[in-house]
Amino acid sequence: MQISNFSAYKSNSYLCKQFKTLLTVDIFNKCTVNLGPLGQYADQTEGYFMFPKLEGEISNKMMFKGKERLIWSLNNYLGLANHPDVRKADAEAATEFGMAYPMGARMMSGQTVYHEQLERELASFVKREAAYLLNYGYQGMVSVINSLVDRKDVIVYDSEAHACIIDGMRLHFGKRFVYPHNNIENLEIQLRRAKKLSELNGGGILVITEGVYGMSGDLGKLKEITDLKQKYDFRLLVDDAHGFGTMGPTGAGTDEYFGVQDKVDLYFGTFAKSMAGIGGFIAGDKQVIKYLMYNMRSQIFAKSLPMPMVIGALKRLEMLRNQPEHREKLWKIVHALQDGLKAKGLDIGNTESPVTPVMLYGGVGEATQITFDLRENYNIFCSIVSYPVVPKGVILLRLIPTAVHTLADVEYTINAFAEVKEKLDQKKYSTDMADIS
Ligand SMILES: Cc1ncc(COP(=O)(O)O)c(C=O)c1O
Repeated sequence: MQISNFSAYKSNSYLCKQFKTLLTVDIFNKCTVNLGPLGQYADQTEGYFMFPKLEGEISNKMMFKGKERLIWSLNNYLGLANHPDVRKADAEAATEFGMAYPMGARMMSGQTVYHEQLERELASFVKREAAYLLNYGYQGMVSVINSLVDRKDVIVYDSEAHACIIDGMRLHFGKRFVYPHNNIENLEIQLRRAKKLSELNGGGILVITEGVYGMSGDLGKLKEITDLKQKYDFRLLVDDAHGFGTMGPTGAGTDEYFGVQDKVDLYFGTFAKSMAGIGGFIAGDKQVIKYLMYNMRSQIFAKSLPMPMVIGALKRLEMLRNQPEHREKLWKIVHALQDGLKAKGLDIGNTESPVTPVMLYGGVGEATQITFDLRENYNIFCSIVSYPVVPKGVILLRLIPTAVHTLADVEYTINAFAEVKEKLDQKKYSTDMADIS
């Protein structure tokens, strides 16, 4: 028997509780009963706060709802997204190869010399023996984790791990231990537990951290973590989605920044941020990469990256390596923005990367009012995060500086944020959701 309406759904839960009897429900019931923590606001937010459409060329200024806005929400760190040389490389590759080539998965019929060349160049740039391309960073990370561990192994991970790390671990049949964000003392406690268990089961330990935490901008404590490797005998996987291209003397990532490239066993980067493309890569020792090539389900059972993505990535990587001016410009903007916000008394947390969170305090209503004010009255577009992504009462406005921003953009934004904070302190924002109709 199936039940398919709301009251039946409710009474089914009642029946289940009372009589421990289960009735089959329509699998879609949940879609009308509860759209989830973000979806519950869909009617009020869609098209404005959620799923907004940014139009025009990707740059510091774009169109939103027919008006030009100053954009601080794109991970186009090095400003490569719309660089004429990148656009040219993308267009020429699309003309020569189309979007379909190569057809098939790498292992079956999707291998090309360009894919191999990109892997060699990525490996050499991040100072590893080998690298393997991933079609998407997210699925790639899920699959890297899934293929590395079995039920005897233990995963130890940071509590603020990105969703792709969490999803990778969901496929893991063995134990996993979490340590509070960047808490090295607690990490050691978890490592002790992990070591005991792995010795008992004859398994290994995989520690996973991020290089740059994408919401708060603080860095994974790679130095302290790698210092524990010998004592606890683990392998370390670093998700450096936001650090690749931005961190370190050559832009090779957060492990380069900390001088621990030789101690990070597997380095993960995405093309979706500094490289302004799509796809990603995993780099490490030759034998481990070989193992991943033959075991990573996201790559074995999925079509290879299309040629324009690969040739476009080769062009971006060449610029990232040989044109440090993009990274220098980025950091000039980062320092001006972060110093200026701090000077105005705004709380930007512990960021040490370009990711710039501005922490304000209030509820979801105030958060939407502030975002509306910024967008409509100051023409500033940034991402907003409130409960349940951050603790109740925190409003996190996230600014992503890029190499295509100007110092005038920075000055304007700092002043706008100072005014917004003042209005919030004076309780000028209502606690009702902003009216976007
Ligand atoms: C830390 C982190 N890891 C992985 C990803 C996923 O990368 P991609 O967008 O290439 O799938 C992201 C993207 O937001 C990220 O921030």
